[in-house]
Amino acid sequence: MKYLSIWVVLVLSVLAACSSPRNSVGLLVYREDDLFMRSLVNDIQKESDGQFSLDTRFSLNSQVIQNEQIENLIREETQVLIINPVDRLGAYAVVKRLKMENIPVIFFNREPLRSDMELWDQVWYVGAKAEQSGRMQAELAMELFGSDPDSLNEFDRNDDGRIQTVILKGEQGHQDAEIRTAMVQTAFQEAGYSIDVIAVETANWNRNEAYETMEEILDRGVNPPELVLSNNDAMALGAISIMRQRGLFSDTNGNGKMERTDEEWIPVLGIDGVPESVEQIEAGYLYGTVHNDYSTMAKAIAALAESILEGRVDDDFPYEIIDGKYIWVDYKTFTLD
Ligand code: GAL
Repeated sequence: MKYLSIWVVLVLSVLAACSSPRNSVGLLVYREDDLFMRSLVNDIQKESDGQFSLDTRFSLNSQVIQNEQIENLIREETQVLIINPVDRLGAYAVVKRLKMENIPVIFFNREPLRSDMELWDQVWYVGAKAEQSGRMQAELAMELFGSDPDSLNEFDRNDDGRIQTVILKGEQGHQDAEIRTAMVQTAFQEAGYSIDVIAVETANWNRNEAYETMEEILDRGVNPPELVLSNNDAMALGAISIMRQRGLFSDTNGNGKMERTDEEWIPVLGIDGVPESVEQIEAGYLYGTVHNDYSTMAKAIAALAESILEGRVDDDFPYEIIDGKYIWVDYKTFTLD
């Protein structure tokens, strides 16, 4: 009899474990072929290892698909969702739905409206302040041009006291694209620099699109720019590829690296600091970048998911949580120097 009841208890607990998965977290990402997201997702997966079971799904850049994925994860009794929304304005419906099901949600990288974040107390956001990256990118460029707006150095190639600049913009409506584009220009103006923006073009964070966009800009027949400011590294790399093909970078001694003092090159600045761009900085093709600190973001996201699963996001939580909702991760500048 005693053994029978032990058996019954064992069978019941196995059944319970099967029907409601323990520590199951869903990770939804707007698309798979995004260089920065790839680094961030890898790190979230590494951080979750051994802490909770993580189910990662990519949403093919469609909010409709992402909503279906959310419904599936609800059906599968996922306990916490980590969401990189396709359309950040779609967060309203998502929060309402998850509140109904009592499934806490951590948004990241694509920031929902404040009013949507406030719909429920089980909603968090992990990200970085786009203003900071725009300002840091401008600071890197100003240093390159000699740090004196009234006396630009040799990088003002036509010596007109102004910097002819191309800006490559990320995705229309994305907070990082809008704010980085505006802020990098504001920072130059505030510091007293004159920049001529010869083109601001959208290339959706994408290397190939930026290659084509830069090709069109060069084909317009204007003089090559003195500076290219890209909202992210992937687009910066695309712009460098076409400019290399057009002979605007010339590795005259053929050693595979740009010697900036005596070879021809154009300063291009990115944002993200992904491994691919660090390689290009080391080879001298990309001048610099602003590191969008994905390792720290991944640590904060995983720690938050774990604390939510344990039912306690309290004062001991290792990252500062602003207004009970926001974890902000600082950017850092990165150049060869
Ligand atoms: C930005 C990042 C871009 C792109 C975008 C996706 O923060 O700089 O490279 O990944 O997020 O939302």
